[in-house]
Amino acid sequence: MEYRFSEEFAREMDQQDPLREMRNEYLFPQHEGKDVLYFCGNSLGLQPKGAAAILKQELDDWAKFGVEGHFEAKRPWFAYHEFFSESLARIVGAKPSEVVAMNGLTSNIHIMMTTFYRPSGKRNKILCEAKAFPSDQYALETQAKIHGLDPKEVVIEVTPRDGEHLIRHEDILARIEELGDELVLVMIGGVNYYSGQLFDMQKITEAAHNVGALVCFDLAHAVGNIDLQLHDWNVDVAMWCSYKYMNSGPGSVAGVFVHEKHGNDTSLLRFGGWWGHDKEDRFKMEPDFNPMKGAEGWQLSNAPVFSMAVHRAALDLFDKTSMKELCAKSEKLSGFFEFVVDHISESSDGQFEIITPRDPNERGCQISILAHGAGRELYDELMAQGVVVDFREPNVIRCAPVPMYNSFMDVYGFGKALNRALA
Ligand SMILES: Cc1ncc(COP(=O)(O)O)c(C=O)c1O
Repeated sequence: MEYRFSEEFAREMDQQDPLREMRNEYLFPQHEGKDVLYFCGNSLGLQPKGAAAILKQELDDWAKFGVEGHFEAKRPWFAYHEFFSESLARIVGAKPSEVVAMNGLTSNIHIMMTTFYRPSGKRNKILCEAKAFPSDQYALETQAKIHGLDPKEVVIEVTPRDGEHLIRHEDILARIEELGDELVLVMIGGVNYYSGQLFDMQKITEAAHNVGALVCFDLAHAVGNIDLQLHDWNVDVAMWCSYKYMNSGPGSVAGVFVHEKHGNDTSLLRFGGWWGHDKEDRFKMEPDFNPMKGAEGWQLSNAPVFSMAVHRAALDLFDKTSMKELCAKSEKLSGFFEFVVDHISESSDGQFEIITPRDPNERGCQISILAHGAGRELYDELMAQGVVVDFREPNVIRCAPVPMYNSFMDVYGFGKALNRALA
C-alpha cells in the first residue's frame, strides 16, 4: 500500500472505505464544538448511539412490570445472557455454547483459573508474558498463593531480549518446551496492552498442549480487534472485557470462552452459583449443584441487565459487519497511522519510535509510540488540541485507530496535530 501524508489521500481512502458510515453510529466527545479525534478505543470505546434507547427500554420494562420483567420484558431478564451468545461467538470464532457474558474481566480470570489452574506435584508452573497488565499479574500471584505455592517460583515470565521491546515468539515456544511437565498453564494476553504485540495464539496453544499444559488468553486487547478463531485454534479458555473495542461502556459486563471439550465436562471443579446450575431445574431451588454444559455452567449470578443492555447495543453494530471486514480496514488504517508517525519522526530527528510490531500480522489496531524523553508533554499537547490518546509511564503514547469508527481523515488530523505539537 502506497501511503501519502495528504488530505487528498485521506479523503480518497475514506471514500473507498466500505465501513465509513459506521462512525455515524457513535457519539464522539466534543472539543471546541467539534468531534475530538478519538484514538483511545484500546482503553474505552465510544458510546453507540443506540445504547440509550436499549437502556431506557429496560428501565421502562422495570417500571412497567416490576419483578414480572424477568418474563415479560421485551428481552426477558431471566434469559438475558443468552442474547449475547450468537454475536460473541462470531466475534471470537466460537460456538455459541462456548461463550457467555458475565462478571468483570479480573473476576473471570479468577473464576476460570479455579478450574483450569490445577497445580499437582511438580506440574505447577504458569507461563505468562513480562509486563502483563497488573491485574493479571496480581491474579497469577494470588492464585499461586491460594494453592500454597510461592509465586516467585511458579509464575514464570517470558521477557523481551535485552535492548528489545517485544517478546520473540520463538522464546515463548522454547520456554514452553523447556518447562515441559512442570508447566500446567500458559496465561498470556492475546495482544499485549502496552506494546500492542499480538501473540500467535494457535502456535502457543499447540506448543502448550504438546507438553500437557492448558492455555488461557486474556483477550482484553484482542476481542473486537483481531479476527479470533478460538474454537479452531483449540484454545482451552479465554476471557475479555467489553469496554474497549466492544464499546459497551465503562466496567460493562465481561465475557468468557470455554472450549466445548471442557465445557461439556460437568465434572470439572468450579465455583458454583445458581445461574450456572442446570436451567431446567434452577427455580426448584434444590440442593446439589448441577452445572449446565457449556460456558454457561461457570456463571454465578443472574444477569446485570443494565450493563448488558449497553453491551447489546454495542454488539448490534458488530452484527452489521464482520471481524474480517473490520480487520481488513484496520490493517490499512493502522498502516496509515504508522506511516504518518514515521514520516513526522523522520523530519524531527527520529523523536518517535514505534514499539508495536511492524508486521500487520503481529498487531491489531493499536500503535504504541515511544516518545523519547517527551511522552508526558506530547500527550498533554495532543489532548489540548482535542486528540484523545493515552499515556503509559514512562514514555509511551498508545493510539488506537479503531476501524469501527475512526477514519483516514482522523489519522491525517492526528499527523497535523503531532506536527503542531512539535512546532
Ligand atoms: C489486559 C487486561 N487485563 C485485565 C484488565 C482489568 O480489567 P477489569 O478491571 O475489567 O477486571 C485490563 C483492563 O484494562 C486489561 O487491559
